[in-house]
Amino acid sequence: MEYKHYIEGEKIYLREVRITDVNEEYYQWMNDSEVNQYLETRFIPQSIESIRKYVEKFDGSMNEIFLAICLKENDKHIGNIKLGPINWIHRFSDVSLILGDKNYWGKGIATEAIKLITNYAFTVLNLHKLRAGCYEQNVASKKAFEKAGYGVESVFNKQYMFNSKYVNIFSLTIFNEK
Ligand SMILES: CC(C)(COP(=O)(O)OP(=O)(O)OC[C@H]1O[C@@H](n2cnc3c(N)ncnc32)[C@H](O)[C@@H]1OP(=O)(O)O)[C@@H](O)C(=O)NCCC(=O)NCCS
Repeated sequence: MEYKHYIEGEKIYLREVRITDVNEEYYQWMNDSEVNQYLETRFIPQSIESIRKYVEKFDGSMNEIFLAICLKENDKHIGNIKLGPINWIHRFSDVSLILGDKNYWGKGIATEAIKLITNYAFTVLNLHKLRAGCYEQNVASKKAFEKAGYGVESVFNKQYMFNSKYVNIFSLTIFNEK
């Protein structure tokens, strides 16, 4: 079956997440307390069934693009990146990602995935602005977005609960300057 979305990079490619991607490994990512510590999904119990339902809701969606991050060398699915919800009137969208397989952290994969989806959003979808939210404590995420060209536009002070304390959230943005 051909991919609906396919974005090729240097080390990785992005393609839509399919129901067949929902396996034991994906389930482990979502329930790993190190992987999910900065994700809102940590507050909701994750089962294979609930992940399947989540993946299904993107099929045919006009406002959300949910892509698998796969290694070019062996087609391994190591994480996901999402563009959405997309506001087509004002041409902006949120971006979020998870590298579920911790063996691939710190190798520039998130930076590459963010760059790829950002370029796709600006050149193919003609969006004007992208935004990502990140906990102040999530240094790797902030750094990956900054390395992909995003900058901190605003800080929401003591917005979310993290380890029993209210913590700051950065709003990182990038503009399509063309
Ligand atoms: C956050 C995440 C996406 C980063 O992915 P990654 O592929 O490891 O990121 P990159 O390698 O592209 O870049 C991360 C940068 O942060 C640095 N970094 C990683 N952990 C760090 C830490 N604890 N403190 C300081 N810097 C750190 C890396 O060294 C790298 O910088 P460098 O290239 O200058 O060395 C990944 O760890 C992840 O999916 N975490 C769980 C889910 C999550 O938090 N998603 C983001 C929600 S906003």
